[in-house]
Amino acid sequence: MEKDTVSSLEKTTLTMEDLISLCKQRGFVYQGSEIYGGMAGTWDYGPLGVLLKQNIVSEWKREFIQKRSNMFGCDAAILMSGKVWEASGHVEEFHDPLVEDIKTKKRYRADHLLEKHGIENVEGMSLEEMDKLIQENHIKSPDGNELGNVKQFNMMFSTRIGAAEDSSAISYLRPETAQGMFVNVKNIVDSFHPKLPFGIAQVGKAFRNEITPRDFIFRVRELEQMEIEYFIDPRKEWNEIFDTWLLDMKNWLISIGLDKNRIKEFVQPDKGRSHYSIKTVDLEFVFPFGQKELTGLAHRTDFDLKAHQKGSGVTLEYYDQETNEKVMPHVIEPSMGLDRVFLATLVSAYNKEEVSSEDGKKEERVVLKFKPHIAPITVAILPLMKKDGLAEKGDEIRKELSEEFSVMMDVSGSIGKRYRRQDEIGTPWCITVDYQTLEDNTVTIRDRDTLNQERVSILELTSKINGWLKDSRNVT
Ligand code: GAP
Repeated sequence: MEKDTVSSLEKTTLTMEDLISLCKQRGFVYQGSEIYGGMAGTWDYGPLGVLLKQNIVSEWKREFIQKRSNMFGCDAAILMSGKVWEASGHVEEFHDPLVEDIKTKKRYRADHLLEKHGIENVEGMSLEEMDKLIQENHIKSPDGNELGNVKQFNMMFSTRIGAAEDSSAISYLRPETAQGMFVNVKNIVDSFHPKLPFGIAQVGKAFRNEITPRDFIFRVRELEQMEIEYFIDPRKEWNEIFDTWLLDMKNWLISIGLDKNRIKEFVQPDKGRSHYSIKTVDLEFVFPFGQKELTGLAHRTDFDLKAHQKGSGVTLEYYDQETNEKVMPHVIEPSMGLDRVFLATLVSAYNKEEVSSEDGKKEERVVLKFKPHIAPITVAILPLMKKDGLAEKGDEIRKELSEEFSVMMDVSGSIGKRYRRQDEIGTPWCITVDYQTLEDNTVTIRDRDTLNQERVSILELTSKINGWLKDSRNVT
């Protein structure tokens, strides 16, 4: 049987073109509305993208909900009363600075244009300050034309609920999942009576009308968030809880395979923070297009609960049975963008290597070295031939293993080519079904990273793979 060895393990410089093309070819991510010429800021996840996303989400839920006794899951409706967004401050405050090319009418993020021209500390600048800098530095649009004045642009997508034409029916597609948890805190307290601190966690879609969506799935108009609202006692010290969350987020990202050398902390300056936050620390990631925000951790104080108490007229205070006091909990919010974590996982996994086969032939392979428990396909079944009952035997094994794992059967092309295809999608183990299999019910199993091959009994496969998956979860 063909057995390859890795002769060079050098990590290559990855370009976004390489990654986007692999994602499209191999069915991870496609451009949204592609057959109509595409729609900016929207991407469709294909079969392997769905599996990778699902694995990331289930690891997030396992770590942050299942393993903790004071965390509660939630799946709030995307459509919420318009009053929610008035109370939360999003109608007034959820803006980005927009500037227009006066000739082409194309619109740009003013802060991004300033940063591109080397101007620092742009976050939180007033519109007038940005206007002044554009003029002083003679900044033109990317097409070389004059720019108009900087304006605020609300990023929420508005929509009408029901058939009524009056303004009471206006609402918005949620720009963050967080508010769905704030409006449910009373329900969860009434159902489960948790003690402070406790948290609510939710994964779901959010929508932002980004002025300039860009960098593949990094800045999109329809995104997915994994968010936690962690309610704490305002009478107690919070710095330690904040720091622990930051560490937990970072460790979790490393546990799913993110390259720890690419993760950096960034403390948001006072002017750059969102309207609700008194402290924000981002974890940034070194993507091929630069070091950018991956996740955010914010101390939102009691801003949201107070705002919804005022807006709804329903008391959202927490009754402390031990001290007989009513307090308004404060909130620490670990928030992650799923699309960005997905992209960082791909960037961390991507490798180009030179491999040599037994006959000394060298070739290049692209290999996604996902942590095995995150890989979209856990095992591939490769019958040596389609004939002589090998494909049927392979399908039998596929059926058995697919009860527990994500399995792909591949029968076309040489075994070498099939290995390369599986390497490219990051499948950790390939099982080859050969003539010996028909005689003694054994198969060879090949490891993606070491290229070692081991002959094992079919009966042992499930427990062996489960053992390796467990190791993959435990090794950081
Ligand atoms: N609830 C707090 C909140 O939404 P945020 O910093 O605006 O805070 C949280 O967003 C996370 O959502 C970010 O750290 C990022 O990972 C992700 N995110 C935000 N806007 C995004 C966009 N347009 N495309 C993709 N991900 C985005």
